Amino acid sequence: KCVDAIRKSLLEWYDRIHKVRGMPWRKTYVPSLDKDDRAQRAYEVWVSEIMLQQTQVVTVIPYYNKWMAKFPAIKDLAASDIETVNGLWKGLGYYSRAARLLSGAQKVVRELGGRLPNNAKDMQAKIPGIGRYSAGAICSIAYNQCVPVLDGNVIRVMSRFLALYAPPKGKQAQDIMWAGAETFVEGASRPGDINQALIELGSTVCKVRDPSCLDCALRPWCRAYERTQPVSSQADIDI
Ligand code: ADE
Repeated sequence: KCVDAIRKSLLEWYDRIHKVRGMPWRKTYVPSLDKDDRAQRAYEVWVSEIMLQQTQVVTVIPYYNKWMAKFPAIKDLAASDIETVNGLWKGLGYYSRAARLLSGAQKVVRELGGRLPNNAKDMQAKIPGIGRYSAGAICSIAYNQCVPVLDGNVIRVMSRFLALYAPPKGKQAQDIMWAGAETFVEGASRPGDINQALIELGSTVCKVRDPSCLDCALRPWCRAYERTQPVSSQADIDI
C-alpha cells in the first residue's frame, strides 16, 4: 500500500537526521515499561512539547535540561511554586506556558494519582493546557499510541502534500489535515517517530519560503510538488 512506502521513506529520512540531532526528550520507546515509568516518559515529553510550542529546538535544549534537573518527576514540579517555575523559564517567553505546566502537575498529583492520563482523550479532557496537539504528541511519543499531531509545521507539510486550496486555518481545511495526519500514523508501528518526522520535515525541509523539495522524503507523493513540476520543466523546454 502507498502509505507503507510513504512511512518507510519518512522514517528512513528521520532515522538519518535524528541521529545527528541529540534532543534529550527523545528516547527510544520501550514497550515493557510499567505504569509509573510510562507516566514519567509522558511527563518528560509534556515538558518538552510545551517548551517547543513557541520556541526553537536549539533554544529549548538547555532549558529542558535545567528543568529536568530541578523537577525530575511530576511530583517535584507540583511541590514547587510559580516564582521558582518562572525563574527557570526566564528567557523562554510566553510565561503562561510555565504556569500551565505547574497547575497541570498539581492537578495530576492532587486528583489523578500522580500520573498523567494513559490516553489522548483523557489527557485532553483532564489537563488544562493540553490540547489535541499536545495530547497527540505526548501519547504517540511516550506511549506509542497511533494518534496524530497537527502543529504549524505539520499544517504546512499537510497542506502542500494534499495541495489544499482552502484557507489552512478554516474548519474544512483543519478537518482534512487532521484526517491526513491521522492516515500517516493509523496502524503505524512507530507513530511517535512519524509525528516527529512530520514536525521536523516542516521545520527543516518543507519551510515557509524556499522549501527544499529535492531533499524531501515525501516528494514522490507530494501533490504540490507534482503540480509545480510541469511548470518548471515546461520553462526548461521553452528556453
Ligand atoms: N517541535 C515540537 N515538537 C517537537 C519534537 N518532538 N521534536 C522536534 N521539534 C518539535
